[in-house]
Amino acid sequence: MKIAVLPGDGIGPEITEQAVRVLRALSREGLRIEMETAPVGGAAVDATGDPLPESTLKVAQAADAILFGSVGGPKYDSLPRAQRPEQGLLRLRKHFDLYANLRPAIVYPELAHASTLKTEVVAGLDLLILRELTGDIYFGQPRGVRTTESGEREGFDTMRYTEREIRRIAHTAFRAARKRSLRVCSVDKANVLETTQFWRDVVTEVHREYEDVALSHMYVDNAAMQLIRNPKQFDVIVTGNMFGDILSDEASMLTGSIGMLPSASLNESSYGLYEPIHGSAPDIAGKDIANPLATILSAAMLLRYSLDQEEAATRIEQAVRKVLAQGFRTADIAEAGKRTVGTTEMGEAVIAAL
Ligand code: IPM
Ligand code: MG
Repeated sequence: MKIAVLPGDGIGPEITEQAVRVLRALSREGLRIEMETAPVGGAAVDATGDPLPESTLKVAQAADAILFGSVGGPKYDSLPRAQRPEQGLLRLRKHFDLYANLRPAIVYPELAHASTLKTEVVAGLDLLILRELTGDIYFGQPRGVRTTESGEREGFDTMRYTEREIRRIAHTAFRAARKRSLRVCSVDKANVLETTQFWRDVVTEVHREYEDVALSHMYVDNAAMQLIRNPKQFDVIVTGNMFGDILSDEASMLTGSIGMLPSASLNESSYGLYEPIHGSAPDIAGKDIANPLATILSAAMLLRYSLDQEEAATRIEQAVRKVLAQGFRTADIAEAGKRTVGTTEMGEAVIAAL
């Protein structure tokens, strides 16, 4: 089984290195995996002028899954859009049709205090945000900046969803709920936006095939509020690309740190890209202080969803639980009386716990 490792920018290389070490530890015990590293994002712009060079795409195509770090940095912010690091990621999502983005938000008992919310509001939370990842205003055409007839400039983007796109993510949501607590909340803005009224109608149609699953609908503004008021009311939240982007950052804070949240982006044939949901954090890059757990947990998801190695995936997740229980903390989840460790040491602690 082959894994393409794309570390990217900022803290990407440091956190990916720890996940790779964890995978290597498993491979020494017989897990048959090969890894190949390739540049993406700003690193690829520096090397080739393109955030997703053909050579990197080839490495990804030859693999069964991608382990991705993070992309972006102030150095690249003024480049033309096509050369921005984020395009490397967006093009990978589109190229491999990675429409289903799973963003679980789990509150580990040891970290319940680390949330800015009251412990009783978040303790025990286990939520799955399922974000559609290849449609919506992120990819809709036309888009751009134009001059109107009156000579005024205006910026515009297009929000759109096809029936097929909504159907397949709805199926994914209901199937995911069947493995969890049988509840799906579909988030939209049907009171204002045509696209999302259509989303609501199609999700409701697909639901007829899943009568054992309870479906509710919620407007996105209310959902943003309910997520911090009473997050435990949710099991699976399914939503479009942009609302999912925003709500998943919000949900990460329920868990104490954005440095804890892994994600999987899957297509219809279980090919996947796995990445922490956080960004490249240029301000702390190269300092060996970033939390590698989101990336290590992403590697676990990779083993589960793309390589069908449930046992190895569970071992990594249990090792992460163990190091938290043992009191290892990176700076983002630091706690009085507990040992604050750096990126490398946290990676080593996970390997020891394996
Ligand atoms: C995410 C990120 C990306 C997105 C950026 C880096 C393009 O915020 O994965 O949530 O907006 O999808
Ligand atoms: Mg985001």
